[in-house]
Parts: sequence; C-alpha cells; structure tokens
Amino acid sequence: MPIETTLVLIKPGGVQRNLIGTIAQRIEQRGLTLSGLKLIKAERATAEEHYAEHRERPFFGSVVDYLTSGPIVAMAVTGENATKAIRTMMGATNPVDAAPGTIRGDFALSIEDNLTHSSSDPEAAARELSLWFPEGTL
Ligand code: PPS
Repeated sequence: MPIETTLVLIKPGGVQRNLIGTIAQRIEQRGLTLSGLKLIKAERATAEEHYAEHRERPFFGSVVDYLTSGPIVAMAVTGENATKAIRTMMGATNPVDAAPGTIRGDFALSIEDNLTHSSSDPEAAARELSLWFPEGTL
C-alpha cells in the first residue's frame, strides 16, 4: 500500500466553530498521522494559487474571499492511501450530498462553507503541500 502525504485545510468556518480538535481527532483515530499542523491567516495570493485551476469559474472570487476571511488550519496528513482515505472521510464536496458519518455529512450543510479542503489526488497533494508547507517546513 502506498504511503502518501496529503493536504487538509480546515476553513475559517471550521476554526470559528471550534472543530479543529474534532477533525484532527477523526484523522488520527483513522490511523493517519499529522505530519504538519499550523494555524495561519492565509495570504490572498496563496489562496488564489491554491484555487488556480478554478480561476475561470464563477465562484473563484468568493472561495478566495472565504479562505482568507479568518484563521485556517493547514495539516499535512501521512499514511496508507492518505489522499483517498481523507477524501472519503470528508464526504462529498457539497455537504448536502455528504453521507452521515463523514465530516461534512455530520457538521456542514452548505457548499459555501464545506468546512475542509482536501487534495483530490496525489499530484494535487504534492502541489498543494509545497504551497502551504514550503520546502524545509515539514
Ligand atoms: S472537487 O471536489 O474539487 O471536485 O470539487 P469542485 O466541484 O471542482 O469544486 C472545487 C472547489 O470549489 C468549491 N466550490 C464552490 N464554492 C462556492 N460556491 C460554489 N457554488 C462552489 N462550487 C464548488 C468547492 O468547495 C471546492 O473547494 P474545496 O476547498 O476543495 O472544497
């Protein structure tokens, strides 16, 4: 089984709702390891780079506004098939479609505040980890 490291962001709504511990606990209980963890206020340029592939989509400005609207938590998560395991744990991107038992299915209702971001595949994880955890900081 491939050991991977993937990126999870807890968005401003998750931090404001005091869900950092709950989300981190679920990740650790699953058997994954937090190999990086920081509470930060994202720079606008970093958020724009993070969502760069969605630049032409109508919600681009609002997702960047939202990600930079308050403190967020960036986590590097390591373990067997970590990218897929985390995506499954988070649930569908739109929380209204997320199954109960997933983080979004249990704690979120709206696509505008879906609590977390997680890398979609290992290539995205490598790109996003280098953005949020520059070389030498993990
Ligand atoms: S995914 O999971 O990447 O396939 O999802 P996708 O539908 O491509 O969406 C990419 C990110 O854009 C966010 N998104 C939206 N934000 C606000 N309003 C609307 N309508 C909307 N549609 C999509 C979605 O939450 C994804 O961001 P992250 O941070 O990964 O959740």
